[in-house]
Amino acid sequence: MAADEPLVLGIETSCDETGVGIVRGTTLLADAVASSVEEHGRYGGVVPEIASRAHLEAMVPTVQRALDEAGIKASDLDGIAVTAGPGLAGALLVGVSAAKAYAYALGKPLYGVNHLASHICVDQLEHGRLPEPTMALLVSGGHSSLLLTEDITSTVRSLGATIDDAAGEAFDKVARLLNLGFPGGPVIDRYAREGDPAAIAFPRGLTGAKDPAYDFSFSGLKTAVSRWVEAKRRAGEDVPVRDVSASFQEAVVDVLTRKAVRACKDEGVDHLMIGGGVAANSRLRALAQERCDRAGITLRVPRPKLCTDNGAMVAALGAEMVWRDRAPSAFDLSADSSLPVTDTHVPASHDELHRLSE
Ligand code: KG4
Ligand code: ZN
Repeated sequence: MAADEPLVLGIETSCDETGVGIVRGTTLLADAVASSVEEHGRYGGVVPEIASRAHLEAMVPTVQRALDEAGIKASDLDGIAVTAGPGLAGALLVGVSAAKAYAYALGKPLYGVNHLASHICVDQLEHGRLPEPTMALLVSGGHSSLLLTEDITSTVRSLGATIDDAAGEAFDKVARLLNLGFPGGPVIDRYAREGDPAAIAFPRGLTGAKDPAYDFSFSGLKTAVSRWVEAKRRAGEDVPVRDVSASFQEAVVDVLTRKAVRACKDEGVDHLMIGGGVAANSRLRALAQERCDRAGITLRVPRPKLCTDNGAMVAALGAEMVWRDRAPSAFDLSADSSLPVTDTHVPASHDELHRLSE
């Protein structure tokens, strides 16, 4: 760890996790997370108002926990990074306001960064700096995208995305119809380990010869699972939860890995990273490894705890912004619930920068 690498604190509040991470360059020093996931469980999905209130209550203690864990003082920091979007507007606002307050009080630069780019950049904490270019398969509760990453601080190109449900959303919806609770991904992953992935031939969305090569669709799959399960229930038969989980999961990860490897080959990119909550899926990790090995592609997937939402990923991207001398954000930075993935961060305008330097 080079002592002159930037020391950055990152705040993440785009959904139901209050994450605060501290990073020096590409080294993880602290990763504190407070989750309101249990409060949303009985509603079967994240309730924005509950998430915002939970962020507000958790913010200061979680920042303190991260500072203690890293063994540093807030005054040692070189910058404060925060998720500016995309995500739930009210939830983002809590993080952005807190980051501004810390940055202003400490006299440190503020970096409003993109949540999706952070999910990619977090891999630097595990495997060192990202090769350029790197293909990124980003799969979370809100997104499924194939992103050609030329420079994680400035140039990310979207090759394809889901046209309906996100991969994680499909896991959550299928878990709900099987009465497995929320969030669905981890439970389905567990049940699938004891099931037969070939038991039921569920459809692979958008894999026809004329379909867009890099877009995804999971809504038809979800409907197919729902019809299959309902037919069993109507016939008074037991639903084989393990086989349904395994067959559904196989349909999702088959399409994700097939398209990701194809994008790498088409674009001549020999590094693939997989990020976002669904990258914690054990079968996705195994199948991606198998297919990458066969295609001569180097696979990079962060450990599961870094795949789901956390503050360390925001700190990782913030540190990279400082390292590469990117312009900080202005103090009138606003949360943008639909920030496009191509906006890796929200720099201050030229005029604002001029004002800041006066
Ligand atoms: O990235 P993330 O923590 O939050 C968003 O930005 O959405 O992703 C959450 C999503 C949820 O849909 C959850 O069910 C899914 O990631 N997930 C998984 C697994 N762990 C979490 N999906 C499949 N397998 C898993 N092991
Ligand atoms: Zn996320």
